[in-house]
Amino acid sequence: MQFQNNKDKILIIDFGSQVTKLIARRIRDLGVYTEIITPKENLSLQSYKHIKGIILSGGPSTVTNKKFPSIPKKILMKEIPILGICYGLQLIAKIFGGGIKSAKRKREFGRAFIFEKKKSLLTKNFFKKNKSVWMSHEDAVVKLPKNFKIIASTKDSKLTIIENKKKKIYGVQFHPEVTHTDNGNQIFKNFIFSICKANKSWNIISQKKMLIEEIKKIVKRDKVICALSGGVDSSVVALLVNKAIKRNLVCIMVDTGLMRKDEFKYTYNLFKIKHNLNVKLIDASKIFLKSLKNKTNPEIKRKIIGKLFIKIFEKESKKISKVKYLAQGTLYPDIIESRSSTGSKSSKIKSHHNVGGLPKKMNLKLIEPLRDFFKDEVRILGKSLGLAHVISRRHPFPGPGLAIRIIGKITPEKIRILQEADHIYITELIKNNLYDKIWQAYAALLPVKTVGVMGDSRTYEYTCLIRAVTSEDGMTADYFNFPKSFLDKISNKIINKVKGINRVVYDITSKPPSTIELE
Ligand code: XMP
Repeated sequence: MQFQNNKDKILIIDFGSQVTKLIARRIRDLGVYTEIITPKENLSLQSYKHIKGIILSGGPSTVTNKKFPSIPKKILMKEIPILGICYGLQLIAKIFGGGIKSAKRKREFGRAFIFEKKKSLLTKNFFKKNKSVWMSHEDAVVKLPKNFKIIASTKDSKLTIIENKKKKIYGVQFHPEVTHTDNGNQIFKNFIFSICKANKSWNIISQKKMLIEEIKKIVKRDKVICALSGGVDSSVVALLVNKAIKRNLVCIMVDTGLMRKDEFKYTYNLFKIKHNLNVKLIDASKIFLKSLKNKTNPEIKRKIIGKLFIKIFEKESKKISKVKYLAQGTLYPDIIESRSSTGSKSSKIKSHHNVGGLPKKMNLKLIEPLRDFFKDEVRILGKSLGLAHVISRRHPFPGPGLAIRIIGKITPEKIRILQEADHIYITELIKNNLYDKIWQAYAALLPVKTVGVMGDSRTYEYTCLIRAVTSEDGMTADYFNFPKSFLDKISNKIINKVKGINRVVYDITSKPPSTIELE
């Protein structure tokens, strides 16, 4: 959906950094639309009208190699302001004749202290609230390109911020987009408002009407189906499409039996009664359980669930006549991740279960109204569509559900135990005002039984693992630092109330090296 074509925008060219998405988020949060493209994409000159600035991201490549990802110099020579970050700075230096060295001995990873050398529009009010910046580089610019000046240095990297004021080309070696850089947002504010002169014209709610009109125009009188899971993304898609085409939307809810306690019933009632959606509920829990019997390998579990879900969804949708479209809650990060900036496919860690394989098989056209948005924006959109707070604030929940949170064999008894423990944990997080401070929290059941003592008797029961992480986008995560009193309370409540668990452990690993889910 190309509805934002008439808006001021900042273009981000992604050279493969892990944190490019954060640049886009920071700028959108400031009220300016951004799009991320790869250096290989055709930078069509026609679209320059609304591009107020270009940001070159960081990336794993080095300009000291013979071949390195780049963009045509003529783009940098347009009257459009440029900001290079990390690799982006090195690329600017390379293109304009500066010197770059592989700085093995002077590489900087982590915090670095920065000293102002010269005033610049880019750094106005930045140093006032800055103690340190976040670095992650091996190469360093060692010779200033012609017509550039040094704005700031660190101990190990003299050319940490450089500018060509006349051409409005700027480069920073550190990452202003990560929260570890103090006051990093000021760099973006200065760049987009003082240098690029972009207008604040972006907010997700202002897009709602346009999105609804767009859906109406595309779908006309045809029918649309949607797999509704009760997560934020599919719920917002359903409400949005429903606003556009009402009864011609049919939502299918497949109950895998692997959802959290009472979640399915609650979601079904909410959509059916409060939102008056056309919802078809399919109870497939027995089939899922049967197919998963004795399966312990995480990838096999994931594949079984993914395939079965598609099979059931396909069968049910065939019962509805004249369906032409499938509405899906694809988000902007999914779109960015599905194309690689360097051409290499990153190694597959887990087979994600989503309905991506459906349209090809079913000969349906896709509508993905959320494909330009980040999760936080979708939550705001959901709120403005009247979506219950319980759902719009919900932590992410994986498609395979509790199957990947019950390590080893899955049985109805284990599902019951985990549902109870998870329910207690999440309820306490909400009661103690912790839920919204955490990006994702859940309980898992480990396949180990250990000895305990309750009353005067020996117990031999399962171990419950609780996890809580902070994150920006799920790509990296840190474990949440609970007060000891909360951990005490949770452990106590779970053990006292859930028969089958006699030990509670808290997962204190970040991602990487762990992943957020256990399987
Ligand atoms: P990991 O475990 O890879 O998870 O660190 C990152 C985020 O992705 C979620 N996740 C999934 N979401 N289908 C989904 O829709 C899946 O198969 C799936 N597996 C993991 C996970 O909950 C976390 O938010």
